[in-house]
Amino acid sequence: MTQDDTPAHPLFAAIYDPAMTHAERMILEPHREYLADDLTGTVLDLGAGTGAMFPYFDERATVHATEPDPHMRRRARSRIEDAAFDVELHDSGAADLSFPDDHFDAVVSSMVFCTVDDFAASLSEVRRVLRPGGEFRFLEHVADDGWRERVQTTVAPVWKRLAGGCHLTRRTASRFASDDAFDVVEMDRFELGVTPVRPFVRGRLRRRS
Ligand SMILES: C[S@@+](CC[C@H](N)C(=O)[O-])C[C@H]1O[C@@H](n2cnc3c(N)ncnc32)[C@H](O)[C@@H]1O
Repeated sequence: MTQDDTPAHPLFAAIYDPAMTHAERMILEPHREYLADDLTGTVLDLGAGTGAMFPYFDERATVHATEPDPHMRRRARSRIEDAAFDVELHDSGAADLSFPDDHFDAVVSSMVFCTVDDFAASLSEVRRVLRPGGEFRFLEHVADDGWRERVQTTVAPVWKRLAGGCHLTRRTASRFASDDAFDVVEMDRFELGVTPVRPFVRGRLRRRS
């Protein structure tokens, strides 16, 4: 982190795409398709990283992406320029989004709520910028059970340092489901990935009126 709490992980940003190549092809592709499926209107890609979601968005959608880490953002910007994606890139963090209330038809988060430093404030911002009836779609890795959770708890401090601030033991699904600003449209757990980064939860929440 920088002194003003802006995340800045140059090494993590440099290795992110090469480290994810296999997982993108073998695991993540159908889940990214799910996140972007049929989204039109105004869409926010929260914590966009290097822009791995950009190729999946429908060209009819107006896509904004936020990425507070300047090293990630630089790679996302190159991806936009190289492929001429029509994505507007912003630097605000999830807990302090630079958009008006009810601005988006959909917010997408892929592997971001493991990393945000203020989970509650970030979810509150998703609520604020999503219009009533709009969808929050997510794919997140979460705390496991039994011996796998004990492994996660043991390696968590080192992992957080190596993996750009990522927390392994968050109970993200139950925190999302218990937020009474949303109706759960769909929420599934997948025994995907390799301990300590497994399982994953994926789903859609609808913002209540
Ligand atoms: C594991 S990466 C996922 C990137 C991308 N969403 C993807 O699917 O490949 C987590 C991302 O969250 C970003 N991040 C960290 N803190 C954040 C915050 N407070 N608000 C928004 N994004 C944040 C990191 O910089 C990083 O790019």
